[in-house]
Amino acid sequence: MIERPRRLRQNPALRALVAETRLHPKDLVLPAFVAEGADSVRPIPSMPGVVQHTLDTLVAEARRAVDLGIGGIMLFGVPTTKDARGSGGTEPSGILNVALERVRAEVGDELVVMADTCLDEFTDHGHCGVLDDRGRVDNDATLEIYGEMAVAQARAGAHVVGPSGMMDGQVAAIREALDAAGFTDTVVLAYAAKYASAFYGPFRDAVQSSLEGDRRTYQQDPANVVESLREIDLDLAEGADLVMVKPAMSYLDVVSAAAERSSVPVAAYQVSGEYSMVCAAAANGWIDRRAAALESLLSIRRAGAQVVLTYFALEAADWLG
Ligand code: PBG
Repeated sequence: MIERPRRLRQNPALRALVAETRLHPKDLVLPAFVAEGADSVRPIPSMPGVVQHTLDTLVAEARRAVDLGIGGIMLFGVPTTKDARGSGGTEPSGILNVALERVRAEVGDELVVMADTCLDEFTDHGHCGVLDDRGRVDNDATLEIYGEMAVAQARAGAHVVGPSGMMDGQVAAIREALDAAGFTDTVVLAYAAKYASAFYGPFRDAVQSSLEGDRRTYQQDPANVVESLREIDLDLAEGADLVMVKPAMSYLDVVSAAAERSSVPVAAYQVSGEYSMVCAAAANGWIDRRAAALESLLSIRRAGAQVVLTYFALEAADWLG
């Protein structure tokens, strides 16, 4: 026998030398929730280890993220009051904007500070955009609010805004609004290929979403991949600095296709349900939490994502040493 692939697997040093993919804490972004008016952290039962933060504990978490050397933090707000227009997202005193200001003041440029640019946490109907008089999500009216929201987030200190609402034209609208307000350096991380997924279930608990029904008129059908390439092309043409695929683990083919297609770095979001599945199986003793989490993150990197958003970010950074 001439070919013996096992030769390269015989010890950890050889295996490490020939590893094609590596996972580094800097690749990871921690999604974090902050609740308005909270005076203590509130655990999220469907996401063990994840909480709704107070402003103070969020700032402490951001400091930990710097100390553990991860790449960034993505903030989501949980407001006390919601309305039809999602006003809490655009007002400077809205919880997400206040949190951005506090976190940025703590970390400066040591950690990339990102904001979810979407209305669903702030609307009383729970949709990612405003509704027209027949109750349908009004794409173009929503774009105007996204522009305002992105400017408010940039002003509050976000390095990166992340439009996740899947409205047509959202990247262009946000880029134009940011530039007009002088924020030409604010990065747009476009949720380019975002699917209408059952794996967002625990997230909706986490932000106490008021959504009834679903988001299938704007988020993508899990059946499609060519459609994602179109979404990516459009977002690139509209000026996206990074494009994201979401969820990650059930969509590794999409991550791979995106990486081949995209001229900008590709991110993937390991969403709440993907995190909770690993946690639940591990809690039952059915799989090894650490090994399964690290394998899932490595797989997302191997598929072609340069950046991975994951609720395991701090734990993984700690494991990676
Ligand atoms: C929308 C948004 C969602 C998630 C991130 N941004 C929810 C949705 O689209 O319903 C889900 C993230 C997760 O499940 O971890 N603002």
